[in-house]
Amino acid sequence: MKKVLVLTGGGDCPGLNAVIRGIVKRALQEEDWQVFGSIEAYNGVLNYPEEIIPLDNKAIAGIHVKGGTILKTTTKGGPFSWPVQDEDGSWTAVDRSDEMIKKLKTMGFDAVISIGGDGSQRISHALFEKGLPIIGVPKTIDNDLSSTDYTFGFQTAVQEASEAIDKLVTTAESHHRVMILEVMGRSAGWIALHAAISSGAEVCLIPEIPYDIKKVQERIEKRYNCGKGFAVVVVAEGAMPKEGTIVARASDEVGYENLRLGGVAYTLSAELKASGCTADIREMVLGHLQRGGTPVAFDRVLATQYGVKAFEMVLNGDFGQMVAFKNNQITQVSLLEATKSYNFVDLDSYLLKTAKGVGISFGE
Ligand code: F6P
Repeated sequence: MKKVLVLTGGGDCPGLNAVIRGIVKRALQEEDWQVFGSIEAYNGVLNYPEEIIPLDNKAIAGIHVKGGTILKTTTKGGPFSWPVQDEDGSWTAVDRSDEMIKKLKTMGFDAVISIGGDGSQRISHALFEKGLPIIGVPKTIDNDLSSTDYTFGFQTAVQEASEAIDKLVTTAESHHRVMILEVMGRSAGWIALHAAISSGAEVCLIPEIPYDIKKVQERIEKRYNCGKGFAVVVVAEGAMPKEGTIVARASDEVGYENLRLGGVAYTLSAELKASGCTADIREMVLGHLQRGGTPVAFDRVLATQYGVKAFEMVLNGDFGQMVAFKNNQITQVSLLEATKSYNFVDLDSYLLKTAKGVGISFGE
């Protein structure tokens, strides 16, 4: 029997379980393949004792509607930077990639499918360069991978953000307030932009367009003082003023290398006050609600397609490649290409024109 190992890495995202199910269901149609899962990304392989579980029909029954990942995940460490505590209590990172590749060979794995975002796919590419037969599946609510039009989980996050705005509108209206909703997305404004159009916000601030606080204030006051008396601002966590920086802090969690974004809603609120905005303002950080729970149907379908395609790529021996969704087609792209650039909101896109066309201000 041939063996494929599946793992989920990086932040969780609605649709991960649907990918896992797609891989397993497709693989079970081949008589000579077995699917296994590594718990917590590569930790299941690197830990002693190993945590590798068989993925059969029973293990994946009904999981496509569930959020999170049955395989668990981690944003800390990895085969190239495994955290080790020194005698003095400090932590250093060691490279265990060669050891892991050797271990996978000894365990008899013929292929690995890594479901993860840009960081995880960079690791996939580096492992492929070292000889590991690996395939990537793009995941992230941020939709910031350049070689695919959509990553699964994104539409679910947009739905969650849109529903939050719909709710904020009713309370903003009742109290004549300005509501600021902060959404995720790291350095890309996709979630904010889609949610602002979908729910009809007055202002949308995204990392791709640094804002001028006076322009934001003008737009708010135009709406606020026109008799309607309320306004909604959507701000992406990575948004920043023209002369300023993102609101972020370093993490104190061992092995967590990313900056932790969050809090721009409060900074923006203070900037508006300082700029003379007299409206009552309330802030809300939507946070991980965008990542939890049941994936919307679009994400389930996309994730299932990714799973089936990933296994078919294993059958074809298309290693070093990542599944992608381009121009309404499920396709594939090299991991190198996939991780070369970031998917920012295109400033010439019709989506942005649409937002401006319905009067949304970007604080320009
Ligand atoms: O990349 C997905 C994401 O949810 C970002 O939008 C956010 O900045 C980050 O992960 C949060 O990470 P964590 O769950 O590790 O705090």
